[in-house]
This record gives sequence, C-alpha cells and structure tokens, in this order.
Amino acid sequence: VSVEPFRLENGRLLLLDQAMLPTEERWRVVEDARAMAEAIAGLSVRGAPAIGIAGALGFALEASRVTESPEAALPLMRRAAATLKAARPTAVNLAHAVDRMAAAAEKDARSSGTAAWIARLWSEAQAIWDEDRRASRAMAEHGASLFATERRFLTHCHTGGLATGGGGTALGVVLELARRGRAVEVWATETRPLLQGARITAWELTRAGVATTLVADAAAPSLLARGVVEAVVVGADRIARNGDVANKIGTYPLALAAREAAIPFVVVAPTTTVDPRAATGAEIPIEERAAAEVLVFQGKRLAPEGCRAANPAFDVTPASLVSAIVTERSVLRGPFDGSTPIDFGAGPG
Ligand code: MRU
Repeated sequence: VSVEPFRLENGRLLLLDQAMLPTEERWRVVEDARAMAEAIAGLSVRGAPAIGIAGALGFALEASRVTESPEAALPLMRRAAATLKAARPTAVNLAHAVDRMAAAAEKDARSSGTAAWIARLWSEAQAIWDEDRRASRAMAEHGASLFATERRFLTHCHTGGLATGGGGTALGVVLELARRGRAVEVWATETRPLLQGARITAWELTRAGVATTLVADAAAPSLLARGVVEAVVVGADRIARNGDVANKIGTYPLALAAREAAIPFVVVAPTTTVDPRAATGAEIPIEERAAAEVLVFQGKRLAPEGCRAANPAFDVTPASLVSAIVTERSVLRGPFDGSTPIDFGAGPG
C-alpha cells in the first residue's frame, strides 16, 4: 500500500512530518488553518497535490471550530482561506483546493445550520483527497503505458505517495512498473538544498523494495549523457496553458540534459496542477525561500558571514523540452511548440 501524508484518527487530523524524515517518523496533530499554513510553509507537508489536500483539510478544521451561524463565520473563513493560500505561492493545487472549499462554505452558509455546514465542508475536503488518490492511480496506469521496456529512470525531488493523497505522480509511474514485475532502478537526485530526494524519495523507494541510487544534483546531467538512465520522470507544481512546467529547482537542467541525450523527459501531474490563468511559464510565481536554507546545513554555517544566497525553490522548464505530460485524463505527447495552448481536458476528474 502507498504511503499517505495524512491520517484521520478519532476526529483528529494527523500529518506525517516530512521535514523530519527519514530519521524520525513523527505524526503531528494539526488543529486549525493557521497551524496547517505553518505546516505547509515549513514543509512538514509538501508536494503540490498534498498541499492542495492540506489546504482543504486546514479549511475544514477551521470550520469545525465555528460555533456561531455559518453566515456569521464567513469573514473568519475568508481570512483562513487567505492564510492557507499564502503559505506557498507556486503549487497552484493549494489555491485551487482552498478556493473550492471557500466556494462551498459561501454556497451553503445561508441555507444550513452549523453542524450540517461543517459536515458538508468535511465531505468536500474528503472528496478533494479521494479525487487525488484516484488521479494518482490513473496517472500510474497512463504513465506506465509510455514505457514498454525501460527499466532505468532518473527522478528529481519527491513525487511519491507522501507528495499526493496517496500513490504519487512520477514516482507512482515507476512504482506501478515495479508492481507489474519490471526490475526498475531509480537514480534519485539529492535535491539541494532541502534534500527531498535523499530524505523522502529514497525512503519511499527503498521501503517499496526498488533499487535506488542517490546522486548529487550536479551529477545527474552527466549520467544522462553517459546513457546510464533511459528516461527522466518528474512531477510539477504548476503547468501553464502552453505546457511550460514549474517544478523543483534543478528540473530545467535535467530537461536540457535529457534533450541533449535524446532520452524522454516526462512530466506526470494531475490536472489540478494546470493553471488555466497562466498562458506561459513566465506568469508562474516562483517561491523564494530563506537564504539560511542554502547557507546553513544542519545548524552549521557553510559559507562565510557576509555571503548572501539566492534560494528559488522552483524553475520553469519550457514546453519545448517536455516529451510528454501525463495527467489522470490522458497522455499528452510532445513536441509542444510553446505557443499553442494544450487541451488538458475539463479539469480534475
Ligand atoms: O518544495 P517541495 O518539496 O514542495 O517541491 C515539490 C516538487 O517540486 C514536486 O516535484 C512537485 O510538487 C510534484 S509532487 C507530486
């Protein structure tokens, strides 16, 4: 069974603190929207689909605390939505899920009593989670159909069960091939500066019994050039209408190297990651995180005082470098020219 980032237990919401992995598997109780926003910003929960679900659950938690009428609570709920959406800017799944929750809250506020309104919001959050689980399953099937014989894959950052509602995006495809009996091997990049590859991808793959080799980010392009792997599979945090893909910083050089090595560069993401409002990648906001994440490692300063650091968390890979985009609906095969909008289908389903 795939690992999942959340657990509901006796009416309490727990999340597996991904910032502590793999040294500690600690489940944290989250009680309201503010705490959920902090967990998202601090990467206790991370990965685009997972933070969408986290936003929805955070909104439902906040609603659960309401004692007055739903209508009287709406200003508070609007603030909760804004807090959740502001936690991280790049993965559009967060805004999509919170907007959907906020719309449900507004729609039923005048017609229902408080208990029914709260129950309705929990079922909306649960639906968002269930839809993402189903999307993971569909992407695994579609993605697996792209790889008839390939065994050796390189991936970046972490795109497994914990980054989604369960199942995963790019890693879900590789895990599906393994389930079908393919002897897959994965080269996982460390993913500096926060090491999602070393800490979480390697944790999930080794747990699943998949042969895993960790490489420094800078080693990856030469592995591709030497023919060590047959394909690159990655997830996405936001996809523009033309197919430009924002994903973890360091994805773009992998796409360039894959093109040069003439191997497929495949993006796997649910349609909740597509931003219909972004015509191209230039319109995607890129999160800039704290300089300390680059300058300090495990409490020890790496660079001399006075040295600054830039820490963009994501980059944009132009559509022209993407071989295929796998969603829960279909496999969209390139080449994409970057000037034509792609038909992703009618949203999540
Ligand atoms: O900063 P993170 O760890 O949230 O970044 C996550 C990624 O870049 C993933 O590749 C992306 O969200 C796809 S997850 C299924």
